[in-house]
Amino acid sequence: CGIVGFTGRENALPILIKGLYSLEYRGYDSAGVAAFTKDGLRVVKARGRIANLEEKIKEEGGDMYCTCGIGHTRWATHGEPSDRNSHPHLGGKGKVAVVHNGIIENYKELRERLEAHGYEFKSETDTETVAHLVDYLHTGKQEDLAKTVLQAVQRLRGSYALGVVSMDNTQEIVAARRGNPLVIGIGEGENMIASDITAIINRTKRYIILDDNEVAIVRPDSVVVMNEFGDTVEKEIMTVTWDMSAAEKGGYQHFMLKEIMEQPKAVADTVKPRIKNDAVVFEDNGLTDERLREIEHIHIIGCGSALHAGMVGKRVIEAMCRIRCTAEVASEFRYENPIIGKKDMCIVISQSGETADTLAAMRLAKQAGAFTIAIVNVVSSTIAREADGVLYTWAGPEISVATTKAYSAQLSALYLISVKIARVRGLISIGDERALCAELQRLPECIEQTLKCQSDMQRIATLYANRSSVFFLGRGLDYAAALEASLKLKEISYIHSEAYAAGELKHGTISLIEEGTLVVALATQPALFEKTVSNIREVVARGASVVLVTTDDFTGDESVCQHIVRLPKCLYEFSASLSIIPMQLLAYYIAVERNCDVDKPRNLAKSVTVE
Ligand code: G6P
Repeated sequence: CGIVGFTGRENALPILIKGLYSLEYRGYDSAGVAAFTKDGLRVVKARGRIANLEEKIKEEGGDMYCTCGIGHTRWATHGEPSDRNSHPHLGGKGKVAVVHNGIIENYKELRERLEAHGYEFKSETDTETVAHLVDYLHTGKQEDLAKTVLQAVQRLRGSYALGVVSMDNTQEIVAARRGNPLVIGIGEGENMIASDITAIINRTKRYIILDDNEVAIVRPDSVVVMNEFGDTVEKEIMTVTWDMSAAEKGGYQHFMLKEIMEQPKAVADTVKPRIKNDAVVFEDNGLTDERLREIEHIHIIGCGSALHAGMVGKRVIEAMCRIRCTAEVASEFRYENPIIGKKDMCIVISQSGETADTLAAMRLAKQAGAFTIAIVNVVSSTIAREADGVLYTWAGPEISVATTKAYSAQLSALYLISVKIARVRGLISIGDERALCAELQRLPECIEQTLKCQSDMQRIATLYANRSSVFFLGRGLDYAAALEASLKLKEISYIHSEAYAAGELKHGTISLIEEGTLVVALATQPALFEKTVSNIREVVARGASVVLVTTDDFTGDESVCQHIVRLPKCLYEFSASLSIIPMQLLAYYIAVERNCDVDKPRNLAKSVTVE
């Protein structure tokens, strides 16, 4: 979900709406705003996209002039997406309004108690409980709103980022956070709250990050932050280093295509600062030679595409460094009592740095004594701040829900770690390291060349856009890449797809192959060319049409496939960085062909801050 709030001297409504549009990638089941207008505290909310909300405001007369308000765009957890369940929620008789991101675990019990006090609930959400609770604690007391919110959050279990307003002070927003991100934008005579920087950046580049258990009082000319005891805390004011244009489409039809095209830069920006004098150099992230020499096991943790990057990383690290390395699903890892030793390293991968399961898994590993290093794209996000060390991916803001450039930057960060460990442990010579660094620095150029397959992929996409099922096959690194290729396709085109280890398909799943089924085979490892070609023959014999993605020096029998995509020459260990490019383009053009909402696929959200 996304939260935004504004208090200042200008009309807040357009600012809130614009903020919501930039947060829409965090969830888009419904949206709403609450504002102090001439008629009092007014709330408008609508199911679906922000555009529906704008429509509804117009229908209701349009005039919502206000200088202070809060807004929300929702990814449903408790209660179906509907007008009624949309935020903001009003407390009591409509004196208090609340927007919330997170899950209140004890909401049922609180709801029963509040109902016993005569509160009537209009929605099925956990958030409405907070609104009534604040009203209950506030009514008839002299306490200011912030103190009341502080009392209220002490009664909540679960996670939250909250924005609260009350009729008592129509220029004030109270914000609170535990477990879900919230930033406060510091302007001139105006201040904002938001789930992330994209919503404030066109008004100010200065911001404060609210920490867990803090409560902030935000007014046009002041921001005061309190800790859980009500004591004022000094907060560091940070400055955003990128500007608005980085978060705009810049002439592309979709963010996804723009971000696909930005991959050479994302990889270059991630790799280049870490290579000095032909060697991998990490500064200030705690990856000391001594620590790297001692590692006994590496756990790589992530969700979705970040996990897929980890699965590639696992194979590269094991091949280069000969250390046992496991890539683990964060939501599983956290509940399966994992075996973690003090000499283990945990690589935590997350674009947003806020994914709830990944964060919890990292905390668990840290507690068990492992050294945690985060590969994160969003600067100062929770995972970045809590990890023992950070290796930022410098991909810039990624807006499309389906990740592309952040994934590519994650891969290159993993290669850097791998080369570093191999060198420190004496598995490669200085000369080998020099050669590997040269290959890493050449990667952006190889990706640039690979992007030239764009029109071919567009053509192939038009041929197969009507399929109901697609299979992706590969072995080793190609299997890891196939998982990501399959995820890309299914998340944005809604075509059922599966990734299979090429040799495993015949053990059951091959029964799904029929005349015309599309199979995409990835084969970038020469040692396995022949094996994968044999598996291709198995599906061709059952009527499949095959797209083969392979290297420039593929020597196998080309006649097995309908289409062949050749990748430029790069080190075989880094091939997943190239093979994914045509796969992203294929998914993109198939989704466009099917008229799907490419940047905001149904049911998904980019940043999942609930477990
Ligand atoms: C969501 C997104 C995925 C993403 C995953 C992990 O499910 O839709 O695209 O890979 O979260 O996100 P993270 O921010 O931790 O990389």
